[in-house]
Amino acid sequence: MMLEDHVALVTGAGRGIGKAIALALADEGAFVVVNYNGSEARAMETVSQIQEKGGRAEAIRCNVADFAACREMVEGIISHHGRLDILVNNAGITRDNLLMKMSEEEFDAVIDTNLKGAFNCMKHISRQMIKQRSGRIINISSVSGVAGNAGQANYSASKAGIIGLTKTAAREMAARGITVNAIAPGFIRTDMTDVLSDGVKDSIMEKIPMKHFGDPEDIAQTALFLASEHAKYITGQVICVDGGMVM
Ligand code: NAI
Repeated sequence: MMLEDHVALVTGAGRGIGKAIALALADEGAFVVVNYNGSEARAMETVSQIQEKGGRAEAIRCNVADFAACREMVEGIISHHGRLDILVNNAGITRDNLLMKMSEEEFDAVIDTNLKGAFNCMKHISRQMIKQRSGRIINISSVSGVAGNAGQANYSASKAGIIGLTKTAAREMAARGITVNAIAPGFIRTDMTDVLSDGVKDSIMEKIPMKHFGDPEDIAQTALFLASEHAKYITGQVICVDGGMVM
């Protein structure tokens, strides 16, 4: 198995894309720490599914927007497992609104979770990865961060920020054997996108050359590749997994 003896932390892994990534990493032998902030039951479901297939996992509650809580989570994992090899910053939220109508709270909540959350985990993990002289950081951005999207000023800014963070961290840590890359999903069928109206879904579909939506597994397989030895010479990149939406 490709990730035997590796320890991975996947944020927001109780459902959707994070859950698919957790399952894919565990399938290749990684011990997966399933981070969650909301439903403990759903996080435990991810852990059980991994264990039923003979994999190893545990769930840890932590709000990624909380700097001190992230430090505690990361230190806990390192003291328990002695290492941390893979970080997937997946936790994310939307609070869509037109810029003119967007409240300060809507803007701050999205930046705090999506962008600062990624910074918090990367900052606390970087020291350990530098000590190990190895590590893989995979940040989940979005096509909204690459191309912008009406109604998502906060979300697009957070996801574009993730790309800057990814490229800077990649430059800072490349010589220490650590790769940092971003995945920019297009429209993936999850609870996050289920809430959109049929009208919105139709208008998004028009922009997808492949004419169908993606599945969490599409993102999970890309994350698995970036976490594996096959991707050892790839860093600072943004990979769009979007059926051709952004070219
Ligand atoms: P989702 O809403 O199903 O899952 C997000 C997960 O993050 C949830 O489990 C949630 O509890 C967790 N989370 C939220 N705030 C958190 C916090 N403060 N601390 C810890 N966990 C927290 O969404 P989905 O679709 O699985 O999205 C996963 C990632 O992919 C997000 O970053 C999202 O922005 C991104 N993405 C999703 C796309 C899609 O079409 N579904 C497209 C582009 C990007």
